[in-house]
Amino acid sequence: MTKQEQLERIKNYVKQKLSKDQTGHGIDHINRVVDMAEKIAFTESCNRFIVISAAYLHDVVDEKLVVEQEQAYFELINFLKEIDLTTNQIAEIITILKNISFSSNLKERKELTIEGKIVQDADRLDAMGAIGIARTFYYGGHKKHLMFDPKENARANLTKEEYRKSSTIINHFYEKLLLLKNTLNTSYAKKIGEKRHLFLESFLNEFLDEMNEPRI
Ligand code: ADP
Ligand code: NI
Repeated sequence: MTKQEQLERIKNYVKQKLSKDQTGHGIDHINRVVDMAEKIAFTESCNRFIVISAAYLHDVVDEKLVVEQEQAYFELINFLKEIDLTTNQIAEIITILKNISFSSNLKERKELTIEGKIVQDADRLDAMGAIGIARTFYYGGHKKHLMFDPKENARANLTKEEYRKSSTIINHFYEKLLLLKNTLNTSYAKKIGEKRHLFLESFLNEFLDEMNEPRI
């Protein structure tokens, strides 16, 4: 099978797995992450095939989105063997999926390959800016979180368990979105992140202003 055919099969696999997603991790998110990862990849010396494969697959094993994570990994590895990826390629992709998420980097920053750094940047940029805001409200609405509660303060230094416990949607900006800018790896992503971060801040200022709350 050619690399192009393998990528086509991977794309279809992801489409089938995430087609019903209503939490902001649907195929539109995946396509944006793949496009952004491709753009970043052109500015770095890296293995494009690994970048694109991992960008497509990065959410099909997400603990929030699958019932049984071990099962999801098992299925994925079998699928990748079926389409003739080498053991090395599979290992590289799986390591990326295991280590890029915000929640798995709360305790300590995981070492990533350049391909992992690129996919992480692309995923994080999609959590910032206008789309990041839209996804956060979409996710919070789906989970029935309150939009805002002045009595509930944003938390700091969260463990993974605490991070997963619900908070208000506005608190999620302080607990994650505003922190992303300083975690971006590549200079291409940092440049885009700068603009998206400013947009997050101006949205928050406007929101809190309209709520008659102090600005950030
Ligand atoms: P990661 O997969 O990198 O750990 P998440 O899956 O927690 O990151 O977040 C992906 C996106 O889902 C976030 O950028 C945000 O838009 C939305 N999201 C996740 N958790 C929450 C939350 N508690 N409240 C609102 N939105 C959330
Ligand atoms: Ni994602």
